[in-house]
Amino acid sequence: MNDAQQAFSLKGKTILVTGASSGLGKQIAITCAQRGARLVLTGRDTARLQATHDALVSDGHIQIQTDLTSAENRERLVQATPTINGLVHCFGGQMLSPIRLLKEELMTEMYRLHFLAPVMLTQRLLQTNRIASQGSIIFMLSTSAHIGTRGVGPYSAMKSGLLGIIRCLALEQAKHKMRVNGISPSAIPTPIWGEDNEQNDYLKQQRARHPLGLGTPQDVANASVYLLSDASRWVTGTSLIMDGGAVL
Ligand SMILES: NC(=O)c1ccc[n+]([C@@H]2O[C@H](COP(=O)([O-])OP(=O)(O)OC[C@H]3O[C@@H](n4cnc5c(N)ncnc54)[C@H](OP(=O)(O)O)[C@@H]3O)[C@@H](O)[C@H]2O)c1
Repeated sequence: MNDAQQAFSLKGKTILVTGASSGLGKQIAITCAQRGARLVLTGRDTARLQATHDALVSDGHIQIQTDLTSAENRERLVQATPTINGLVHCFGGQMLSPIRLLKEELMTEMYRLHFLAPVMLTQRLLQTNRIASQGSIIFMLSTSAHIGTRGVGPYSAMKSGLLGIIRCLALEQAKHKMRVNGISPSAIPTPIWGEDNEQNDYLKQQRARHPLGLGTPQDVANASVYLLSDASRWVTGTSLIMDGGAVL
């Protein structure tokens, strides 16, 4: 392996991917394994998690079924996790509501799923020294963390909140050469948006506003490999916007 190949390699690294049973997390796990990583996979649905596991090249990967909104389940995951070199927070779900019609239940659910769960899981992994020095942490954000969209307020607020965590955590962990970044994709067809067919008006509208067309889970997986690998050793506290030019 020459120096350039080495920089982008994940050989010898163990990576924990949440939301690994579907969409972006699944592709990130598959791609990381192809780059040489050993994976710790987590998601809620056992069959889908197994399908991701089956799609990984090489052996030695681990899968742990968990609902991450439960503190007890998060602790079970932490205890079952070996020392890791990378962590990709890639779970979540979309719930839309204009602020004027916002219900406290929905806001609370968004907070627990998109903010509290990834932050407190990170906290416990750090406190139990599960993340090796020079490790890399990625939070899956969204272009909604950076721009306003009608009806997306609760989700947008949680993703923007994570930007605050990313910046502070990046400073706190720099002494361990640990890096903390976000990836902010715009719309990518995955199960989160339902089936990508003629009836899917949301994806049709999104396609129209993306100069480079919609992204794919592989695009996000490639960016994750960069942020997890030593190639990005000088990059921390940032969020990589991936939107095919939509925000322009
Ligand atoms: N696709 C996009 O356009 C897009 C754009 C920007 C940002 N994102 C963000 O990227 C992340 C992944 O989205 P996706 O498109 O890959 O969605 P997806 O295909 O629907 O996958 C969501 C994943 O989250 C897991 N999950 C949901 N609730 C969970 C919980 N309570 N505990 C543990 N795991 C849970 C699901 O597990 P099970 O399937 O096992 O239930 C699944 O693995 C989300 O944070 C989303 O906001 C997506």
